Amino acid sequence: MLRPTLGALSFILSLGGLVAQNVSEIYLENCAGCHGPDLRGGSGPNLIDDTWIHGDDDESVTRAISSGQPEQEMPAFKETLGSAKIRTLVVYLHEQRARAKHQPAMAEGPSNRQIYRSREHAFQMEIIAENLDEPWSINWLPDGRMLVTEKSGQLRLITNNQLDPQPINGIPAVYNRGQGGLMEVMPHPNYSENGWIYLAYSDPAINEDGDEVSMTKIVRGRIRGHRWVEQEPIWQAPPNTYRNGGPHYGCRLAFDREGYLFFTLGERGQQEKAQDLALPNGKIYRIHDDGRIPKDNPFAQTNGAIPSIWSYGHRNPQGLVFEPKTGLLWETEHGPRGGDELNLIRPGANYGWPIITYGINYNGTPITASTSQEGLEQPIVHWTPSPAVCGIDFYTGLKFPRWNGNLFVTALAGQHLRRLVVDSGHVIDQEVLLQDIGRVRDVASGPDGMLYLVLNRPGKVVRLVPLE
Ligand code: HEC
Repeated sequence: MLRPTLGALSFILSLGGLVAQNVSEIYLENCAGCHGPDLRGGSGPNLIDDTWIHGDDDESVTRAISSGQPEQEMPAFKETLGSAKIRTLVVYLHEQRARAKHQPAMAEGPSNRQIYRSREHAFQMEIIAENLDEPWSINWLPDGRMLVTEKSGQLRLITNNQLDPQPINGIPAVYNRGQGGLMEVMPHPNYSENGWIYLAYSDPAINEDGDEVSMTKIVRGRIRGHRWVEQEPIWQAPPNTYRNGGPHYGCRLAFDREGYLFFTLGERGQQEKAQDLALPNGKIYRIHDDGRIPKDNPFAQTNGAIPSIWSYGHRNPQGLVFEPKTGLLWETEHGPRGGDELNLIRPGANYGWPIITYGINYNGTPITASTSQEGLEQPIVHWTPSPAVCGIDFYTGLKFPRWNGNLFVTALAGQHLRRLVVDSGHVIDQEVLLQDIGRVRDVASGPDGMLYLVLNRPGKVVRLVPLE
């Protein structure tokens, strides 16, 4: 009979449709945060190009998803997804890769003419520099020249909105793999008098077993012409804390009004170490500008503690800035899956990772049932799902008068810029700007009163210009 056959057929067809929809949902829920909603990469690699670290055959891709690469922050999904769902993902990756080959590449991001309207201001975006290799941080010298770091290890200059084709020679070698590389650049607050420029990066070394290992390091030096000279070490972790692989280097710097240098260091993928004051992982530090340790640091007199520690219990702090009006120290921190945080940093305080968190593991398993505990700091704001909050800055210019004093927060996976209205240590309003602009790594209030952004892929520096 015809009827039941057709019925059965359409049932099978609808089942097929359901399964196909399911796998894209599984991808969006478990993978998109790191590999990007379009599979073109984020903190994890592009999954639809022809570059494969572990091989593109079925077996290698299945193994990559099942067993992961935990030391590179690729989780193992064997337990939580099971082999059937992993199989659907392998097929899905093949399909999406084949499809991508027949599609033109994504539009190259924002155009100069587009007009963006937001609650307080309308603006356009102007490209200052492009074709940068994963730019990470920007900052200005007093003469108006801009410094920009590329994660793969170049320090470059932008003069009069023109990228100098020649990078600065002689900066230290970096460990450029996974999340490691050249990260922050920042001139000394008295640069005009002393010429010092600070760099934070993942320092490569070879351990006793011959493995390539790395850890966060801070140096300062001066720029003469196109050369990096007179380098001095400012802070370095003990050799036995260098790791083979591992994410979460931190690497944000901030000077306070008195000239103390604050910097961040993530837990390097070793959660529990964030709670151990004898270990460098998962801490924010305060030192003198030449690396000496202030005698009044909160743990300077604590037996066994690292005396440069200012606060602890951090996962991966990627944004750090002093509020010009109040002197308060604000920090953004990558949560795991969910639970990204905005914190106010106080001396000696414990921010709770991994004892408390609003997030879960990337593969869906719990970290802890607790989101709060006596004696552990609560975030001022927490975000789920994770925007992957990164660099932050207060807008201090006059070109966007109604943004003055607002805190701007960048989002990598979330692909937007967030405007936070803060008042006396509280966030009283939030607005998402530029949704889907691509991964935003850093933001900075420019000396010309414009707001500058560092876009990750494709690597660009842009500025927001108000519409008259
Ligand atoms: C927390 C971030 C993160 C999540 C979530 C994540 N990945 Fe990954 N993935 C990575 C990183 C980082 C690598 C690179 C690992 C390395 O360097 O060896 C990677 C590698 C891979 C590879 C190997 C790529 C190659 O070039 O050989 C595949 C395949 C992959 N991931 C698939 C997935 C799938 C499917 C999911 C979701 C079920 C997923 N990943 C979830 C971060 C992530």
